[in-house]
Amino acid sequence: MRAQHKPLRHFLSIEQLDQATLSHLFEITDTMIDSDMRTIKKIPLLQGTTVTSLFFEPSTRTRTSFEIAAKRLSADYLNLSIENSSASKGESILDTLYNLQAMQTDVFVIRHSVSGMVEHLSQYVAPHVHLINAGDGSHAHPTQALLDMYTIRHHKKSFPGLKVAIIGDVIHSRVAKSQIQALKLLGVQDIRAIGPTSLLPDHLDAQGVTVHHHLQEGLKDVDVVITLRLQRERFANPAVPTAEMYFRDYGLTTAALAHAKPDAIVMHPGPMNRGVEIVSEVADGPQSVILQQVTFGIATRMAVMAYLMGHNHANETNYF
Ligand code: CP
Repeated sequence: MRAQHKPLRHFLSIEQLDQATLSHLFEITDTMIDSDMRTIKKIPLLQGTTVTSLFFEPSTRTRTSFEIAAKRLSADYLNLSIENSSASKGESILDTLYNLQAMQTDVFVIRHSVSGMVEHLSQYVAPHVHLINAGDGSHAHPTQALLDMYTIRHHKKSFPGLKVAIIGDVIHSRVAKSQIQALKLLGVQDIRAIGPTSLLPDHLDAQGVTVHHHLQEGLKDVDVVITLRLQRERFANPAVPTAEMYFRDYGLTTAALAHAKPDAIVMHPGPMNRGVEIVSEVADGPQSVILQQVTFGIATRMAVMAYLMGHNHANETNYF
């Protein structure tokens, strides 16, 4: 018998999900992709609801794709510009939230530099309110991991048996942490982290992730290559390499990629620093699915918002 997916009130981390719920979110994303292919892309699933984004850190992809996703679901969407808000006059994040909640926001999409902030806020919001973690410190970025898994599923069909390499600044990357959790949930046995000791967290082995310090060795025969930006804004350790040293040892070049399987896909959550973690020849090359990740981000975020709001049947989106 097929396992039952479970309802979610907030979307805080991949750790909340079980396999059935993750698979069901993929199925809803499939139907959202179908609706995105239509001439008229809007569907009335969240008509009458309000989605508010609070981004305390910069964003291009996540914030805009949530806005497009909310609008495609016919929700009203409000993006509070934090620099121009009363947060700059000392208003706390909780008071900011309470005031926007008093204006009947149904869904908050929140990015913050403090790990655990969105989960912390979830203890205080009204029962009708749903929170989505759009990235908290170096802790989690669950919708990014979800869209990344959707992209892998699109190209590779089945997860068990895949070999996946994550290159670079894993220690500061909320994306990598959420990806590792999602890959494990989907049954991937061979997950590799490649980078210098200063950029890899302790205890990866205990999480079932194999550590490699040599790029070519780590990339051998992998199906999926994920490379990451050096998050200098989070660096506290002076032992991290310069951009030049990093590129020499861990930059994803065509020669390095040749060690992966010929049909390996190349992924990057963005933003990319070309010439540091990846060269343009690879980023824009035939194996790159980087912009497809961005496209799938819209349908994935539509699926998450619809699911949290209780629209949890894949066929519910077939309006036309
Ligand atoms: N991947 C990602 O979170 O990108 P942004 O910082 O541009 O949202």
